[in-house]
Amino acid sequence: MSILITGGAGFIGSHAAVELLKDGYEIVVLDNLSNSKIESVNRVKELTGTEFPFFDIDLLDIQSLDEIFLKEKITAVMHFAGLKAVGESVELPLLYYNNNVTGTLNLIEVMKKYDVKNLVFSSSATVYGNPNQVPISESFPLSATNPYGKTKLMIEEILQDLYVSDDSWRISILRYFNPVGAHESGRIGENPLGTPNNLMPYITQVAIGNREELQVFGDDYNTEDGTGVRDYIHVVDLVKGHIKALSYLEENEGIETFNLGTGTGYSVLDLVNNFKEVSKKDIPYKVVDKRPGDIGICYADTEKAEKLLGWQAEKTLLQMCQDSWKWQVENPEGY
Ligand code: NAD
Ligand code: UD1
Repeated sequence: MSILITGGAGFIGSHAAVELLKDGYEIVVLDNLSNSKIESVNRVKELTGTEFPFFDIDLLDIQSLDEIFLKEKITAVMHFAGLKAVGESVELPLLYYNNNVTGTLNLIEVMKKYDVKNLVFSSSATVYGNPNQVPISESFPLSATNPYGKTKLMIEEILQDLYVSDDSWRISILRYFNPVGAHESGRIGENPLGTPNNLMPYITQVAIGNREELQVFGDDYNTEDGTGVRDYIHVVDLVKGHIKALSYLEENEGIETFNLGTGTGYSVLDLVNNFKEVSKKDIPYKVVDKRPGDIGICYADTEKAEKLLGWQAEKTLLQMCQDSWKWQVENPEGY
């Protein structure tokens, strides 16, 4: 009776593995290690003192996927596996469509075959495109401007159609805002390969001295200090939301979509200042042009998750910065 975690060697999947084990679930982890290292899986085992099966397979390899379902007693799936770099998705759209969409089609095909119909899917707030107002609720119009975002939208639609065709599926679509932070032990965290695309890992690399300065993408947005505002959420809070979603599926039929955020927006400079406070390091920065495709303000309406899942994020921005910093200091080169 195990939960299959696809992409379980990655940033969010590895934290989900720890929290699931802590809550007494059995797990099976699958990852093709295209954007992660096996060391993260070893660290999850070490942190939890628990052994579990790990399969180095690709979701595009449907035969190997089938063998996992044949071998293991899987009752539900948390599906994190996917490629996530927006810029890369513009350069390599076919890679993204194939990996994310075909990978998911293979997964649900095999789940259907083995009558495993409880699924928690990692979507993203990117599916709200450029929202007209904040906070953003689940019923806002959806759009995407890049192949990565389109794969998330397509998968959401595929899952809706799947449910229409067979209402014995129980599906949670979780739209993440901006996951940051790391496990408080400092043993697992975000391990970007190459130059980080996202703000928090960039800041931690400036603080540790791996990069000279932060480039702040624009300071004339309609926000308090002019820099972009986002809803940063601690990765451990985020994965606790997944476990609530999993319990919800066990008790409720249907397909539901939830925002996972804190409901509070912070600017780029808020993040820089909080980070300076916890790290006691200077974060030199320079304001440059806006990043194409960026929006000014984005934060979640979290009421639905609060009401239906009984879940709320708890950790503060300061704690997010503290845990990101601890991870960076104790693992200066990543895994
Ligand atoms: P990550 O890259 O750290 O983890 C994803 C994992 O999936 C990686 O370990 C990668 O090797 C694996 N993977 C990719 N394609 C695969 C395939 N075809 N077969 C098997 N394994 C495969 O990313 P993350 O930050 O942990 O994100 C997890 C999920 O959450 C992704 O689907 C991502 O799009 C989504 N998401 C992430 C964020 C974020 O800011 N981190 C925000 C919104 C949504
Ligand atoms: C990015 C992704 C989005 C994804 C989201 C959550 C892009 C274009 N978008 O969005 O698809 O759903 O992460 O993971 O990659 N910033 C800087 N300097 C930097 C990096 C970022 O000033 O070096 C600013 C950005 O302009 C933004 C904020 O910091 O205002 C957060 O940026 P980032 O971490 O990339 O997240 P999103 O822009 O929300």
